[in-house]
Amino acid sequence: MNDKRKPVCLVLGAGAGIGGNTAKRFAKGGYHAVLARRSDQEGLDRTVSEIEAEGGNATGVLIDAVEDGTIEELVKSIERDIGPIEVCLFNLGAQIGNRPFFDTPHKAFELGWRMTSFALFRLAQAMLPAMIERGHGALLVTSATSAMRGNAGQHSHAAAIGGRRMLCQTLNAEFAPQGIHISHIVVDGPVDAPDTLGRLLGDKFEAYKASKGEDGVLDPAALAETYWHLAHQHRSCWSFEVDVRPWTDTPWWNDNPPSAINSASRNRE
Ligand SMILES: NC(=O)c1ccc[n+]([C@@H]2O[C@H](COP(=O)([O-])OP(=O)(O)OC[C@H]3O[C@@H](n4cnc5c(N)ncnc54)[C@H](OP(=O)(O)O)[C@@H]3O)[C@@H](O)[C@H]2O)c1
Repeated sequence: MNDKRKPVCLVLGAGAGIGGNTAKRFAKGGYHAVLARRSDQEGLDRTVSEIEAEGGNATGVLIDAVEDGTIEELVKSIERDIGPIEVCLFNLGAQIGNRPFFDTPHKAFELGWRMTSFALFRLAQAMLPAMIERGHGALLVTSATSAMRGNAGQHSHAAAIGGRRMLCQTLNAEFAPQGIHISHIVVDGPVDAPDTLGRLLGDKFEAYKASKGEDGVLDPAALAETYWHLAHQHRSCWSFEVDVRPWTDTPWWNDNPPSAINSASRNRE
């Protein structure tokens, strides 16, 4: 069937950071953006209004993606009432801040898995059949340093998103040959995201950003350009995994600041 409606970009986890900015970027590029977040109706309305003021199309939905049936119902209603989901950004994280192992309750550990791995599994089961039938579609998954490297205090978060990275690989292995581009984006640094990192840091957020210097914190509008590019790569050269970090940082596998490395090598000379 040839669906003449506008293509949809669904953003699951659309706060004022990466999610909202990606929705704006895709709306600017001609998609109908569907923004889904858990709780902040005012913030949701604000982003939808900003998109519409720029001449774009957007719909905002409040859902708790952890609840059984919510993602499934959302996907069904978009395909029926708005248009074909051509691109989906799965943007839910499960960062609860550093928590020592013995202060990590079973509930917190399980919730991390429900928000990240299991919610992505449910989304893929609900959304991929229509994409496969159309023969194309893109599923972008925002990830973080903890998917690549465990660290003290990150038990729930790292286990959940490390497992999700493997889920992305298995999805890619099964569905890339059916035309579905899966991409796992490792965000290896702090984001200027008031609804997530901002909430975690509270009144220290502005001072924290200032301490990182100019462009020392990822700008989510700039990152949205990477998401746009990934979703539109030619299928002869798809990226499965991309990592991004501010210019002032070193990659996740190396936590020595360059100055420490330089002085260490000077000491050896
Ligand atoms: N922020 C950082 O410094 C940072 C660093 C590395 C990686 N990341 C990754 O970036 C992604 C998040 O992007 P962002 O930090 O820029 O945040 P964002 O896009 O501004 O917001 C994400 C939104 O997800 C929504 N959400 C959380 N749980 C949900 C649920 N159960 N159901 C529906 N929506 C839910 C929240 O909505 P409500 O606010 O309405 O609850 C939140 O606003 C995550 O995958 C995270 O791992 C972030």
